[in-house]
Amino acid sequence: MKTNQQCIVMGAQWGDEGKGKIVDLLAAQADRVIRFNGGNNAGHTLVARGKMWKLNLLPCGLLHGRPGIIGSGVVLNPEALFREMDAVQQQGLDVSPDQLIVSDRTALVLPVHHQVEAAEESRRRRPIGTTLRGIGPAIQDKAGRRAIRAGDLADAALLEERVEDLLSYHNALLTGWGEPTVKKETLLQQLLALAPRLLPYVAAVPPLLEASARTGERLLYEGAQAILLDVDHGTYPYVTSSHTAAAQAALGTGYGAAVQATVLGVCKAYTTRVGNGLFPTELSGPEGDALRERGGEYGVNTGRPRRCGWFDAVTVRAGIRAGGIQSLALTKLDVLDGMVEVKVATGYRFKGQLLKEPPASLSEELNAVYETLPGWRRPTAGIRDFQELPEEARNFVRRIEELVDVPVTMVSTGAHRDDTIVLESPFGVAS
Ligand code: IMP
Repeated sequence: MKTNQQCIVMGAQWGDEGKGKIVDLLAAQADRVIRFNGGNNAGHTLVARGKMWKLNLLPCGLLHGRPGIIGSGVVLNPEALFREMDAVQQQGLDVSPDQLIVSDRTALVLPVHHQVEAAEESRRRRPIGTTLRGIGPAIQDKAGRRAIRAGDLADAALLEERVEDLLSYHNALLTGWGEPTVKKETLLQQLLALAPRLLPYVAAVPPLLEASARTGERLLYEGAQAILLDVDHGTYPYVTSSHTAAAQAALGTGYGAAVQATVLGVCKAYTTRVGNGLFPTELSGPEGDALRERGGEYGVNTGRPRRCGWFDAVTVRAGIRAGGIQSLALTKLDVLDGMVEVKVATGYRFKGQLLKEPPASLSEELNAVYETLPGWRRPTAGIRDFQELPEEARNFVRRIEELVDVPVTMVSTGAHRDDTIVLESPFGVAS
């Protein structure tokens, strides 16, 4: 078996696929775990060290004692990071600067971003349904070249200039909307107060990753959100503001060699979505409610009930191509246990035509075309060997492979790390 030194784990649907558990499992084989996109809009729930952990910004590998890295592709809310560090410390995990590096190029999410996002969402004719964590405005500031970056906190004079530029933009916007403006002194003092705690973690990431790879260490890149939320390749405009494709692992760390990583997409055996936007296989009414209850489909971050529906092979197939996904980890198979039949969308009917590719805008007139497969009566929960799955469940997995055109190399059958069938490890090593 060929061993691989780098692996990217990313979402293959609209997020919440159970990436946290898969990253946690693979972290045991890795030396460093690296975040490269999103911010604290991400939420990973995982069971480790006999406890339940809820992480938003901290890389999951910390739970295995693997140092974590937050790359420049992440937008970082320092207060949220500190709250999370305090919470995990209470659960017995101390995150010291030798355990976590924050890129000096990471753009910060500031209180003004929350204010601007709330004002914009409330004015949209069709709100996106964002997590209201200030992620979009912070990323816009980065592209607008007015962001405050983690490294800027080390230079008070430079910081003052940058705060002035940032607020000249945002205060004009807030004034136009009739919203309260932000005082330069207030923001500057907030940032200066955060600096002493954040700066010990701040460093340049690319040389570190290069040195780590040269000594033979294994690098695990932990994607946030998912390909259908990618700003270019997702269901625009109901997407996040950053890139979620595997290519972002290279761009969002500054370590270009990340493009050589193997790419594992994580995908539920059905589909969920939070926030607004079209969802062709959505089940409304009692069927959707039943799936939500069985799957515990409520947001980690916001507690919002997730919209639930059947597996959509059309969007997943397109997401695999755009994202660069080479194999899939299929999660929550056990949630479908006991169903008489299970459905998979294989196309869409749109104005009398059969579509095999998702159009640029998912229209309300688009109807999913389903293939129905027999369900399985025996529970799959906790099964760790593929051959022990009921035949119908194995056939379901094999049919998904055919439809999306990549192999399913892992199947998750429960929340615990060990409730996983590993057919092939993305690092090419035995677990
Ligand atoms: P934002 O990332 O907060 O701007 O939200 C944009 C869209 O992405 C909304 O539909 C959110 O619900 C969705 N979103 C953002 N982060 C996640 C996530 O980690 N899981 C699932 N959906 C997410």
